[in-house]
This record gives sequence, C-alpha cells and structure tokens, in this order.
Amino acid sequence: MYTKTIKVDPENIDETAIDSAGKIIKRGGLVAFPTETVYGLGADGLQKEAAAKIYEAKGRPSDNPLIIHIARKEDVFHLAKEVSEVACKLMDIFWPGPLTLIFEKQEGVPDETTGGLSTVAVRYPSHPIAQRLIEASGRFIAAPSANLSGKPSPTLAEHVIADLKGRVDMILDGGSVSIGIESTVLDVTGEVPVILRPGFITKEMLEDAVGEVKVDPAIQGDLTLDIKPKAPGMKYRHYAPKGELTIVEGNDIGMVAEEINSIAEVMLSQGKKVGIIATDESAALYRNGTVLSIGSREDDTTVAANLFRVLREFDSLGMEFIYSESFEGGKLGYAIMNRLLKAAGHRVIEVKGKDEVLEKNKIIFVCTTNSTRSYMAEVSMAKLLKDQNIEDVQVMSRGLVVLFEEPVNPKAQICLEAHGYPVKNYVTIQLTQEDIDTGCMILTMTEAEKNKVMDEYENVKRIYTIKEYANEQGEVLDPYGKEIVDYEYCLRELERLVEKTMIRLKGGKE
Ligand code: TXA
Ligand code: MG
Repeated sequence: MYTKTIKVDPENIDETAIDSAGKIIKRGGLVAFPTETVYGLGADGLQKEAAAKIYEAKGRPSDNPLIIHIARKEDVFHLAKEVSEVACKLMDIFWPGPLTLIFEKQEGVPDETTGGLSTVAVRYPSHPIAQRLIEASGRFIAAPSANLSGKPSPTLAEHVIADLKGRVDMILDGGSVSIGIESTVLDVTGEVPVILRPGFITKEMLEDAVGEVKVDPAIQGDLTLDIKPKAPGMKYRHYAPKGELTIVEGNDIGMVAEEINSIAEVMLSQGKKVGIIATDESAALYRNGTVLSIGSREDDTTVAANLFRVLREFDSLGMEFIYSESFEGGKLGYAIMNRLLKAAGHRVIEVKGKDEVLEKNKIIFVCTTNSTRSYMAEVSMAKLLKDQNIEDVQVMSRGLVVLFEEPVNPKAQICLEAHGYPVKNYVTIQLTQEDIDTGCMILTMTEAEKNKVMDEYENVKRIYTIKEYANEQGEVLDPYGKEIVDYEYCLRELERLVEKTMIRLKGGKE
C-alpha cells in the first residue's frame, strides 16, 4: 500500500490535507494522526471492516478493544448507553483531554471495535489536528496508538513512519506530541470509577473532581476460566525496545549510578552495546555507555514526554542492553513506571543502602492454590523471623487460582503439625492487586506462576521463583496427589529455601 505523509502545522492547519484525510476515513481507510498523548492509528469506529484493518496493520490481537475518538461532548450519547452523573462531571472537567471513559455501549457500536466487550471506550482529544480530522470525516474515529503491537507508542511522526509505512493510507505529521504517554483509562460503568490504565490525569486529580476513585485494573481474572480482564490491553507485553531493558532503583542516586557504571563496564568489556537512561541531574555521573537524558526529575512531565522517544532512540542506535534509573514518586511516577516496567519485562535491580536492608519488606509467597506450598513457605519464614526477633517484615501467602476458601491440604496439615507449625483456622486466599505494593517481593514456586503474576498484575517489581532467589536451578512442584512423604519432602525443601532467602535478604545484596 502507498502511504502518503503530509506535514500539518497544528497552529495553522492545512484544511485541504485534513479534508483528504477525512475522506480516507469515510471510505474505510486508515489515517495516522497526532493527539496530545501519542499518535493514533484511526479508522471509522462504526464500520467493522475498518476496525479489522487497524488490527491487521498493527499486528494487534483482536480481543484488545479500541478507543473511539469524538470531537463534541454530546456525541458520547451516540456511543454510550448510559452516562452517569459522575461521568458527566468528569467530561465537563477533563474533556477535551487525555481521559478515556468506559461506558456500556450502544447497539450500533460493532463488536469488532470493542473486542467483543459490551462496553466502549470514548475519548475527546484536545489536539487540534485530531479534532479537525474527526470533524472532517463526519465519523467517530477508532484509534489505538499508531505503533506496531508490542513497540513503544509513537510520539513523533517518524516513529509512525518507521512502524506503519506501507500499512496505512496516510500519516498526518503534526510534529512532536506534548504529553507522551497514553490517556488515563477510567471505567465509569459502576458506582465508583475505576482506573484501568494510569496516565497524565492522575487518581488525585480525578478524586478532586468526583470523590472516591479506585485503582483496580481487574486484570487478575483467571484466564483459564475465561474471565475477560477489564482492560484487555493491560495483559499484553508492551513498549519493549529491542535491547534488554533493566531498571536499577534505589534511594541514593549516587549508588544507583555506581551500580549501573559497574554493570556497564562489564558489558562493554564483553563488546556489548550499552545504553543508559539518565536525567538532566544525573547524566554526569555516568562514565561509560551511551547516555541519554530522559528529562528532569524536577519536572516529571518531561520524563513522560521523552520516555517512548528515548526507548526508540536506543533501538535505532542498536543498543543491546539498556539500564534505566527509576522514576517513582512525583505526580506521574505511577503512570511512567507502569510503562517502564512493562518495557523492562519487570526486570529490576534494587540498590539498597546498608541500613535499609529488610526494612519495609513484605514478602508474598505465591503458588497456584495456596493450600500447600506457599503456605508452607509462609509459616516457615514467619518462624525464622520470630526466632531472629525481626519485626518489620510482613510475610503472607497467596494463590493464583483460589475459587473458594479451603483449609490447608490434609496431608500438608499432618506434616506442618508434626513440624510445630500452626494450621488451625487457616483458609486459602487469592492474590489480588491490592496485595502488591511498592515494598513487596513476590516469591513463586514455579516459572509458570511467576509469568502469570507478571502478565496479570500491575506494578510487579520484585519477583523471583524461590529457587531463583536462592540461586538454585529448578522449581518447587506441587505434591498434590502424591504420598505423604512427598509432602514432607516438599516442606523440608521449602524450609531450606526459606533459610537461604533469609540469608540473602539480610546480606542486603539482591
Ligand atoms: O492516549 C490514548 O489513549 C491513545 C491515543 C491515540 O488516543 N490511544 C491508545 O489506544 O492508547 P490503545 O489502543 O493503544 O490503548 C487502549 C487501551 C487498551 O489498554 C485497551 O485494552 C483499553 O484501552 N480499552 C479499550 N476499550 C476498552 C473497554 N471497552 N474496556 C476496557 N478497556 C478498554
Ligand atoms: Mg497502545
């Protein structure tokens, strides 16, 4: 397909260009255009064939729904079945702007656009080119970010050209976007709004406007039971650069830089190409590698704006390993780290000061049903902590598939009691998003459990299989269905691994 690229000045919009782009949308074609967040890949949102073309061009799984863009508030009523009072208030305050609202959908909205969901995502962008394109097309424009599926979202037309040239009819080049991360996605179908994807509009801003807002990505739905997560897009790997990205975090930026310097030195001596994501404040601390500043810590909007561009720049420089500082804290920290952690596949190295060791730690042991292995690990860790008079570490266990509360497995119970561990009143508990907070470390029994947690939960940073953490090969398998001696072996194995876990935690080197 021939892709026409046209430069359009957002301050002085060329109406002929917009008209021809509008015509392409009208006849079911694809146009990439700038919005204030990232570039979008647009097609007529109510034509199912047009929506199908978007999925094809992006290489995107078709169960991942699209956002429909409008250019007048009242058009929401053509797409949404019900618009609550809270939703109206949010629209009045934040539209046009980087807030996407999820409603129950109207009859006319095709399943192809909503990934088969009964809800629809609607956004009224503030970018003048986006607004004029929607008006000129006379349609509502479905548009995901204009990148190939899995790549960083585009913040410059050059990024769109690199990914989609030959796959779309037209690219409107409106220069650099201003925000740089995608819109906040907020579900307003229930009584309390729920954030499904963090963005420039923060929880605090939303709460200022309408009171209570929850952050429940509802992505922990058990896929084996075919429960659809609320924001299907959140379960896919995202934003990944070609090089292997690792986040290095710690309270002391000097120590973080030292850690990155020493890793980079080793990598470079092996002939690898190493990129470093620094800030204006820290760039001078790095001695080697290719250092790019992502912006200033004093103003995290600059970090958000440059994030995807920097990841793509390292791609074009052919970097094989990329190390990034962490950008927590600040108003946009949550939204920035949501993207950066995904881009890093949750690879995080933590650099701790000596006296921080074991501080504010929460350890969650995770297995599949929480009826044997993770509970065994929990109680043996709890006992060790008690024996050593360590009080500031919280330890718990959770399951990935807990359909109903169950007591501990009967064979496990016999072994646990013989070892003097408590089992009375115990019931199994499902791992939820609320369990996962900044200080926590998750230890799973198998690789599959680890991958499931990373895929289905947000903001998972420190996660290992228990053997990986103990520097061993292999997994701790479920003795379910086996003899009581196998349960006994499993418990002893876990006691041994928990002891090694303690040693590593206390050594402070992770
Ligand atoms: O800033 C943005 O939102 C950009 C610009 C182009 O507007 N668009 C964008 O679209 O980021 P996309 O497709 O890359 O991300 C849309 C997100 C996905 O995580 C998707 O799963 C979620 O919104 N989403 C869309 N419709 C939904 C629905 N009905 N229910 C729940 N989540 C939905
Ligand atoms: Mg996207």
